[in-house]
Amino acid sequence: MTQRERWASRIGLVLAMAGNAVGLGNFLRFPGQVASNGGGAFMIPYFVCFLLMGIPLMWLEWGMGRYGGIRGHGSTPGMFHVMWRSPIAKYLGVLGLFIPSVILFYYSYIASWTLGFALLSALGQMPEVPQQLDASRSPAEIKQEVLQPFDSFLKDYVGEGSQSSGRSAGSLLLKPRVFAYILFWVVVALNYWVLARGVARGIELLAKVAMPLLFVLAIVLVIRVLTLGQVVPGGQTPVDGLNFIWEPQWFIERGGREVFVLLDPQTWLAAAGQIFFTLSLGMGAIQCYASYLREDDDVMLTGLSTTSANEFCEVVLGSSIAIPAAVAFFGIMATRDIAEAGTFYLGFTSMPAIFSYIHYGQFMAALWFLLLFFAAFTSTVAMAQPFLAFLQDEFRIPRQNAVGILVALWVIGSHVCIFVRHAWQVMDYWSGTLGPPLMALVEVILVMWIFGGQRMWEEMHKGAELRAPRFFYYASRYVTPVILIAIFAGLVYQKITGTNEQTGLEGMPAGSIGVWIARGTLLAFAILLLWLIYRAFNGTHGDERQSGAAEAK
Ligand code: TRP
Ligand code: TRP
Repeated sequence: MTQRERWASRIGLVLAMAGNAVGLGNFLRFPGQVASNGGGAFMIPYFVCFLLMGIPLMWLEWGMGRYGGIRGHGSTPGMFHVMWRSPIAKYLGVLGLFIPSVILFYYSYIASWTLGFALLSALGQMPEVPQQLDASRSPAEIKQEVLQPFDSFLKDYVGEGSQSSGRSAGSLLLKPRVFAYILFWVVVALNYWVLARGVARGIELLAKVAMPLLFVLAIVLVIRVLTLGQVVPGGQTPVDGLNFIWEPQWFIERGGREVFVLLDPQTWLAAAGQIFFTLSLGMGAIQCYASYLREDDDVMLTGLSTTSANEFCEVVLGSSIAIPAAVAFFGIMATRDIAEAGTFYLGFTSMPAIFSYIHYGQFMAALWFLLLFFAAFTSTVAMAQPFLAFLQDEFRIPRQNAVGILVALWVIGSHVCIFVRHAWQVMDYWSGTLGPPLMALVEVILVMWIFGGQRMWEEMHKGAELRAPRFFYYASRYVTPVILIAIFAGLVYQKITGTNEQTGLEGMPAGSIGVWIARGTLLAFAILLLWLIYRAFNGTHGDERQSGAAEAK
């Protein structure tokens, strides 16, 4: 058997894994979720989910990934297959190809906005704003006046704008700026370049450069934001912003009712969803990176340190930029509206608007978008790798060709997101919200019950300097599956009753053609993947590989 690729160094592995997890989720999605789910009160469900679900799943995915990698499989169909000799195991593994690839379709487009906005900010091409704000006006009017140009700017960039395109606001097709479209291709090209260089010479090297830079950028921005004075009448201070994030608001208004945050299932679903999304859990992506570990690499300690790195970037850095800046500028009330208007509103509208009022604001705005871009770039390569590993490991397709095939499918998927209204939100719902808990449930049952909890526990601890408290064994065997079933049931219930405010699907015409185009794309892609799995494991050369894998054990 040909030798699989390996991470070149431990520090490179840690940075690559951290780059996988740290992404737009940390700097955009998290602050948005906190602000719209009760501030500090949200941190309780968030940390409960982190401890009882995040950490156990993280170790489990690392352990599973290394186990599969040693046996020649970097994607979940093969991993499930070597862990459970049932004909259906490999088909269940389709989730670990479908989810990251579909997220890649839309996430890469969003990543290209961050790069585009970084360039536009640096070149001074962002909207002009009135520099003298009339102090006699109400904060709400000021907010309106300041944000409006940036809101239109983003809408125009992605082609949602109703004025410029001359189309009606609800029409099927979007008409993005040519610049936006070109930048999408730039992002594809950059990813192509990194992926074609391989795991150690591409992904690992990228992480070694991008992660330290990201860290420095984040620190610079945190300092700049926290030293903002009161800029606008009606604004507060950045410290009020930190208080807003960290002080629990036990009761919030939701759907016209006052609800107790901790007893509202929606809060818990949001917290669990954020844990999955930010840690890249239940996606097949962690397993894939872990499959490039060596047999004696430390799963427990390294897994825990990259998880902590992500939490630091999220809870400390992610919460100290966008929200405090918005509070300093617009005040707490307005910030909650901004957060609820969508995560992108916070990052792409409020941030550049604020920066346009401070010294060297253009430059700071460019740094902000560059930070987002680095965060996103190290995540997109992680989303791409499972499918590449699948083609390389199961079909023996050389890396260069595998990257070509992936890019072809990716570009098709992204075009649906770029040009069809609401398509990306539909994809985000199926693959970013509903998919991960389902995938995690399959994994936990497969590993802790079918493969054997004790066996996995020993497997994970091979070469480990850190022994996990036995608590986590029981947690992942009994508690995590129950939580996952509850989450999944809750999501399905929300879907059926149409009460899922948080999924970005709100206000979308339920039966619109765009939604059906997106769903059709997803269905076609899922069928393609299932067929590929069938071919990989049942084709003539699949047979011989199957028995080869059995003997390798
Ligand atoms: N964790 C990433 C973030 O916080 C996003 C992400 C979701 C991801 N799924 C993934 C990254 C799969 C890599 C692979 O933004
Ligand atoms: N459903 C997500 C949300 O409402 C959408 C989202 C927000 C998102 N921020 C993102 C998706 C960043 C990808 C990356 O929060």
